[in-house]
Amino acid sequence: MLIVGPEDDFNVALSKEVGARLLPIERRTFPDGEVCPRVVGKVSGERIVLSMRMKAGSCRPNDYLLEVLLTLKNLKRHMNAGPVSVVMPYFPYSRQDAIFREGEPLSSEYVIELLKNSGADSIITVTAHLHRLNDLRFGEVDFLNLSGFKSLAEELRKIPLREPFILGPDTESINWAKELAEYYGTNDYDSLRKERDLSTGEIRTFVKSLELKGREVVVVDDIVSTGGTMANALRAAREMGANYLVAAFVHPVLVPGSLEKLVGAGADALIATDTLEWIGSRATVVHTIAGALKSGDLP
Ligand code: R5P
Repeated sequence: MLIVGPEDDFNVALSKEVGARLLPIERRTFPDGEVCPRVVGKVSGERIVLSMRMKAGSCRPNDYLLEVLLTLKNLKRHMNAGPVSVVMPYFPYSRQDAIFREGEPLSSEYVIELLKNSGADSIITVTAHLHRLNDLRFGEVDFLNLSGFKSLAEELRKIPLREPFILGPDTESINWAKELAEYYGTNDYDSLRKERDLSTGEIRTFVKSLELKGREVVVVDDIVSTGGTMANALRAAREMGANYLVAAFVHPVLVPGSLEKLVGAGADALIATDTLEWIGSRATVVHTIAGALKSGDLP
């Protein structure tokens, strides 16, 4: 097995943990914006794990996707690669997992098809926001959706919290809250209700009658992008009586201004994983991904 990807801490740790060599990728962007990822070294029929991440704060999903697709095609067509597993810890376009308004694309499904058509034999990701896609098998491609909440729970345990309450910011996040609560080892979890205006993106979060007075509350979500959802939930938790607030999230997309929103909403601590490159990531998903690669279940 060969790990192919940028020579960063994440891939160095991944290659060590699975005991495979790391073949670096140089990421180059031409002045007009076109990308040109170059695999530095030779492949001779090995099984390949192509591992690339986006950067928090400037995640440029379109460039990233093109880099992955071009590298995949290149590995298969010109570089004598064996089966290729693509590791995309944060799966771009996953939030468009339904046609919300007539005429919109079902982007998440189309992206999986693009990867398959470019040569992916399996796709490995972490906590993909694919609530509304029922079947994640597309032809011959295996789509492995691993949990990022185990890593978050391990990191949370390092903060000495007193019987924390785990709170999701909206109805669909109840599963995230449940997963984190289970890994953390508590039954105290629930979620709030949020409404989003589909054209303006504006959101409203509603308080609920939960006994949070004097409690330490962990607000948990899969993604923090603009920070609006998390900030609203933090404020609601404070209004409901919480006295210490942790914002815990798997994917630190963190568009500019989002961190300020979280701090402004009263977050006392932030915990996120390294599914995107972010200096503030405290939890790592490397062990989770390495475990899946070592299990030998992938094609
Ligand atoms: C959406 O339902 C997701 O689970 C997140 O709550 C959402 O993507 C967060 O986005 P933002 O930070 O822009 O509010």
